[in-house]
Amino acid sequence: MTRKRVAVLISGRGSNMAAIARACASGSLPAQVAVVIADRTDAPGLALARDLGLATAIVPFGGAIGRQAAEHSLAQVLDAHRVDLIVLAGFMRILSPWFVGEWQGRIVNIHPSLLPKYRGLDTHARAIEAGDLVSGCSVHVVTEELDAGEVLGQVEVPIEPGDTPATLEQRVLAAEHRLYPQVLGEFVNR
Ligand code: GRF
Repeated sequence: MTRKRVAVLISGRGSNMAAIARACASGSLPAQVAVVIADRTDAPGLALARDLGLATAIVPFGGAIGRQAAEHSLAQVLDAHRVDLIVLAGFMRILSPWFVGEWQGRIVNIHPSLLPKYRGLDTHARAIEAGDLVSGCSVHVVTEELDAGEVLGQVEVPIEPGDTPATLEQRVLAAEHRLYPQVLGEFVNR
């Protein structure tokens, strides 16, 4: 079976991108990272992607560039790399209903909470503030509504006494690195 070609979209450090790329390289995830795309030139994950031998591209969003123009550039990069599936991994842009419609059911995201709890930002601080004993992460299909698509997989992570958003983030991130490649492995051939 031909391996699905994945584009990983990042805005930041890219640790989930690296976990996915390593799983592809080891064969535990039967897919291929066709390209890593960042919306900003200074995303640290770009250097990490190059170190992993991956193709990279930058598609600037925001500022003077409207979202529509940015998404058209993104579509061109995806076409050029013959991408089958878009994997959002810390990509801090909300994709338009037009774009999501074009890629319906073929965009996935990882979110650092047990959805449907804590959609949006600052999930770790909100979970700690609420006195929750458990947090976690979710991989979901991207739809027009933020963090609301079908949940494909979740892992629970305990919240320890004295946790700060930073310590909880580290524990959840380690779980993300296991969950995302595993869920993608099931998703690419479903
Ligand atoms: C992760 O916490 C992920 O859940 C969220 O953004 C963060 C990305 O981290 N969507 P990294 O860039 O993969 O290290």
